[in-house]
Amino acid sequence: MVLDVQQLAVDYRGVLGLDRISFQIQPGQLVGIVGPNGAGKSTMLKAMLGLIPAKSGKIQYCTCPLHRQLERVAYVPQRSQIDWDYPITVWNVVMMARTRQLGWFRTPGRPSKEIVKTALERVEMDTLQHRRIGELSGGQQQRVFLARALAQQADLFFFDEPFTGVDQKTEAILIKIFTELRTQGKILLISSHDWGDAITQLDRLLLLNQRLIADGSPQQVMTPENLKQAYGTTLRSPLPPNLDSNLFC
Ligand SMILES: Nc1ncnc2c1ncn2[C@@H]1O[C@H](COP(=O)(O)OP(=O)(O)OP(=O)(O)O)[C@@H](O)[C@H]1O
Ligand SMILES: [Mg+2]
Repeated sequence: MVLDVQQLAVDYRGVLGLDRISFQIQPGQLVGIVGPNGAGKSTMLKAMLGLIPAKSGKIQYCTCPLHRQLERVAYVPQRSQIDWDYPITVWNVVMMARTRQLGWFRTPGRPSKEIVKTALERVEMDTLQHRRIGELSGGQQQRVFLARALAQQADLFFFDEPFTGVDQKTEAILIKIFTELRTQGKILLISSHDWGDAITQLDRLLLLNQRLIADGSPQQVMTPENLKQAYGTTLRSPLPPNLDSNLFC
């Protein structure tokens, strides 16, 4: 049940996007990806899913190619890549996760409706289920997409910058659900250019800037040398002050 990424590389018309990244993730791991804007975090997630072509690389889950098991992956793209003007209700956004499982032409039955309802309750968005997605705040929209991921009942969860622009309540809901999914043995791969306090929840952190600069616990990864390689010299540390003081004294 291991997610195995070997030598993943991406070129954008001759320009390096990602340089031969390799790592493995065991079930029940909450793994963060960190790196500056343009480091290739989104590129990596998209290339793993086959949404953009890879120049090289082998991505396997349970020893089979991941792109043949996409129904097992719940992917929430970065905000900027979602069309928020699309005229669809909160309920139907979440139901899309079920329709994808059942096939587009089958009417969802009672079990699917129950799954959607429970997912919306878990993210505290059930009261706004009839609203259009474009009529929600950024944090509420992020929670709806989290509900959609839950309704998919996937084994792997890829979230691209889920904390961007969300308030403390939404951040707490996201972290609570991520840690619950970890307890259920799911694999979680979550990108953020700035982790803040949430970094303390991670089992493991991948520091990226085109190549994989470091891979380990947040404390092992966020060393001054690694940060310098990833961000250059003028960095404000992305670690919360309590961890920061341990590292930089
Ligand atoms: N469709 C594309 N065509 C050409 N270059 C691209 C394309 N998408 C991304 N890039 C480039 O690839 C690099 C990695 O981009 P990517 O979006 O993966 O970074 P990121 O780490 O997700 O950044 P951010 O923190 O801003 O979300 C950047 O230099 C970017 O300009
Ligand atoms: Mg990105």
